[in-house]
Amino acid sequence: MNNNITISQKSAHQFSERIINWYHQQGRKHLPWQQNKTAYRVWISEIMLQQTQVATVIPYYQRFMASFPSIIALANADEDDVLHHWTGLGYYARARNLHKAAKIIRDNYQGEFPDNIEEVMALPGIGRSTAGAILSLALNQPLPILDGNVKRVLARCYLVEGYNGLSTFDKTLWQISEYLTPKHETAAYNQAMMDLGASLCSRTKPNCQACPVQNSCLANAGDLQSNYPNKKPKKKIPEKNTIMVIPRINNKVLLEKRPPSGIWGGLWCFYEVEHEKQLTPLLKKLQLNGIQQQKLPAFRHTFSHFHLDIQPIVIDCSLNQMQEINENNQQQWYDLQQQASVGLAASTKKLLTLLKQTRECF
Ligand code: ADE
Repeated sequence: MNNNITISQKSAHQFSERIINWYHQQGRKHLPWQQNKTAYRVWISEIMLQQTQVATVIPYYQRFMASFPSIIALANADEDDVLHHWTGLGYYARARNLHKAAKIIRDNYQGEFPDNIEEVMALPGIGRSTAGAILSLALNQPLPILDGNVKRVLARCYLVEGYNGLSTFDKTLWQISEYLTPKHETAAYNQAMMDLGASLCSRTKPNCQACPVQNSCLANAGDLQSNYPNKKPKKKIPEKNTIMVIPRINNKVLLEKRPPSGIWGGLWCFYEVEHEKQLTPLLKKLQLNGIQQQKLPAFRHTFSHFHLDIQPIVIDCSLNQMQEINENNQQQWYDLQQQASVGLAASTKKLLTLLKQTRECF
């Protein structure tokens, strides 16, 4: 193993035994996706749980499963409806990939989730760790996992140098995870490792006193928890600007559906331009030029890899102008009072709320 880490078979066995015992004593066993376990139910939960806390996921998961109780139901659903169930969870590519993968499973696997890791990893949105999690948790296959939380547990226990995304770090951790993952009770072991990483072995305040592997953890021995994983060298995230154009009449505002790719692919958003000089051509295209423009307060929306400074501009149109703009599957007059039934980008949702609350003021 590079990183010069050696683990005896005896200590590997002891490690997994302690983790599994901890799971039996302390692990969560009553989460919705832990009931009536099927690969489909576990798959949906694993995708929702990427970058999102358990408590946030639960209501989304329940609504999603109620609407799409099977792979076939998901595959046959409208993309708008799938994205609508994701509104507020973020990272919408996850929902688009779920939908795509469900169609592949419907068309190529008779609607049955594949049980072979290579086939699972070939589905959109499923990497090695998620494939391992689904097949181990649902079918008890003896496959290793390595999500961000598990990386932190292992990096601390064995003082693995590096940080998330650094290839030597990930490679060493995969080797450790493969070596430690038991052939029996893999589901309990993997679930416990994820839970341990999300709870006791937290990034800033690890509770080592309560940890089942405190005696073999090298970071605990040297009081080095805060150094592992190592800090990623900071890259300043870029700032971008956008102007969101809000044609409005009474309670209605004009939204467009974004093309399938890109950060808001398939979601309903306001029309946007980057520079003021592009505003007039856009308004001409919409046949809304020459109307007074009203700036609302600008706000910032931060994504994982950039800040977006948003300047909303309201264009109050007349009934005639509204009637010139046809609704179709790419644009709609969205009623501020109605319950959304389509996927909305978080920043669109924020603006819609602001518009609803401040209709009288602006
Ligand atoms: N994060 C990703 N998968 C998880 C799981 N099964 N349990 C808890 N946190 C998770």
